[in-house]
Amino acid sequence: MSTRSDSSAPARRAATLREQLREHAHRYYVLDEPQVPDAEYDRLFQELQALEAAHPDLLTADSPTQRVIGQVLDGFAEVHHTVPMLSIRTETDTEPTGALAFDARVRKELALAETDPPVRYAAELKFDGLAINLRYEHGVLVQAATRGNGETGEDVTQNIRTIGQVPLRLAQSDAAVLEVRGEVYMRRDAFEALNERQRDLIAHGARNEKTFVNPRNAAAGAVRQHDPAIARKRPLSFFAYGLGDVSGWDIPPTHGELLDALARLGLPVSQERAVVEGAEGLVAFHRRIGEQRDALPFDIDGVVYKVDDRALQKRLGFVSREPRWAVAHKYPAQEQMTELRAIDIQVGRTGKLTPVAKLVPVFVGGTTVSNATLHNEDETRRKDVRVGDTVVVRRAGDVIPEVVGVVLDRRPAHVGEPFDLYKKLDGKCPVCGSAIQRDEGEANWRCSGGLFCAAQRKHAILHFASRRAMDVEGLGDKLVEQLIDSGLIRTLPELYKLGIAKLTALERMGEKSAQNLIDGLARSKQTTLARFLFALGIRNVGETTAKDLARHFGALDRLLDATVEQLLEVPDVGPIVAESIRTFFDQPHNREVVEQLRAAGIHWVENEGTADTSPKPFAGKTFVLTGTLPTWTRDEAQAEIEAAGGKVSGSVSKKTHYVVAGEEAGSKLQKATDLGIPVLDEAGLRDLLKAGGR
Ligand code: IVH
Repeated sequence: MSTRSDSSAPARRAATLREQLREHAHRYYVLDEPQVPDAEYDRLFQELQALEAAHPDLLTADSPTQRVIGQVLDGFAEVHHTVPMLSIRTETDTEPTGALAFDARVRKELALAETDPPVRYAAELKFDGLAINLRYEHGVLVQAATRGNGETGEDVTQNIRTIGQVPLRLAQSDAAVLEVRGEVYMRRDAFEALNERQRDLIAHGARNEKTFVNPRNAAAGAVRQHDPAIARKRPLSFFAYGLGDVSGWDIPPTHGELLDALARLGLPVSQERAVVEGAEGLVAFHRRIGEQRDALPFDIDGVVYKVDDRALQKRLGFVSREPRWAVAHKYPAQEQMTELRAIDIQVGRTGKLTPVAKLVPVFVGGTTVSNATLHNEDETRRKDVRVGDTVVVRRAGDVIPEVVGVVLDRRPAHVGEPFDLYKKLDGKCPVCGSAIQRDEGEANWRCSGGLFCAAQRKHAILHFASRRAMDVEGLGDKLVEQLIDSGLIRTLPELYKLGIAKLTALERMGEKSAQNLIDGLARSKQTTLARFLFALGIRNVGETTAKDLARHFGALDRLLDATVEQLLEVPDVGPIVAESIRTFFDQPHNREVVEQLRAAGIHWVENEGTADTSPKPFAGKTFVLTGTLPTWTRDEAQAEIEAAGGKVSGSVSKKTHYVVAGEEAGSKLQKATDLGIPVLDEAGLRDLLKAGGR
């Protein structure tokens, strides 16, 4: 038996760990594509550290434990940090009491007696993004650099300049040099929107696109993007938390005051900060922020405590490149690995079919998770997620937990087939058995059952009753919920059979409200064909298409039996819409619902509105409305556009002619800009209407 240490079990384990850690670090730092969660990296790292501590002869100079992590990448100019960018020690005990050890260490280093007063600390959030050094000279931003290995980083000035929150000039400062350090991060809503957009691009066949694992990863990718135009489309944010090189500026005497001063210079500083006293203050801060963590608009992985007084910070100094006066105190990780047991398909309220991962329960981001979304079929296939795999699950904030990837190294020999949604469901909705469909360019499969499908019932009834559909007064959210949950109605036609006695038996339902609903239902029976068609909730048939169909066919029976070819004759009805209409009326239960509604007394004047002769200056033009307009409601703006012969669509595409944007316009405005579509404000729309749409 060999006794040589390099072939012993610990030696082999150390070699394996080093190899794995190098591979993970490469994926993380160079490719921006981590395969395992940070928690797993930390676990491997700590195992190696422990092994090397127990067997010092195994320690090698090139071990990942001997290196300040981080790396300088090719393609960006190098920046030497005048003052190195350090990291801080991490307290891994995620309980609030983890703060006690830090306070005890600080007091010991400062040789404080038990009777001495508590130490004052500045407590802040630990933002989960990437550290950036902003160099201002005479108040002007001259350079932005990543941390790199701490000594040398990358010059990413061009990309950082795209962040609106980073001032290009400081308010009232002409310090010769002021280096501000902080974290670049991506808000969760921006991250969700970005991934939504990526999924959409992928559904449309974009080959080189991918989704991002988490906001930090997306932020890192954006900061290191070589094309600033792409960086600009990935909205980033920034929080300042410290200083680098400074000359010609009086640094405030405490950290709390420093942050106040940075905020006065126009830099974003988080409001979630406090100056607290002693260990008790730290524990309370950790607990308070922990309770708020899910509600924050961005990810944090912990909090940071810093000795507030700069003079005390100086006395405490550094140990091996980490300040003794600061510590990071973590919260439970938001990403973990677990095993995928099965993939179920969930039917959403709009009929969307979502693959859901059934997991071996795992503690993530503070709760136990056993279900996580896989988003859609493409995403599941692209990530090659299979039953039996070890997957990475992310749960952050109020966002639904999601599977972000597979750990391929851990794939067992007997793993499931590649995911195939149609095959799995045999083409049928798991709730109602109706045919499922997936339109071209659509990321999702859907149930075609519409109002027949129990999963979609509440939504279908609310839509049916809505103002622009059948306009049933007195039938709101709560009531629909009550009607369905109590079993009073199961199908739309049953609405019209409701009597006063049954209604008043419902909780919180007085005779007056019951009578109001019955009157509202009675009034709704007199309608138009267009409203009725819209109310049915046929996929891809919005208000405008419903009006076009009513105008073209004039009578319901002609539409019910129209072939796809005949449907295509309707202006602006393309193959997808025609197919949706055909599929809908091909389902016998949908025909039944239509007949029952007619039998319940719903009626309209046929061939109405076929002879509208008013001028149509917007004919053939498609508009998209987004954001809040100053005076018109969305309905009013839509009515104006339609009265002029235009169409209003819900999403921006190459076929959109104008986007009308108001306050807080979001991704639609972005998309319009990307596609070079003219954007109008309300005044612009009014002008265009006046000018006759040219
Ligand atoms: S202070 C000398 N404060 O955490 C102290 N860092 O290892 C330098 N971070 O990569 C860091 N939030 O990017 C500090 N409020 C905060 C922070 C923070 C996040 C990051 C920082 C660095 C790591 C510390």
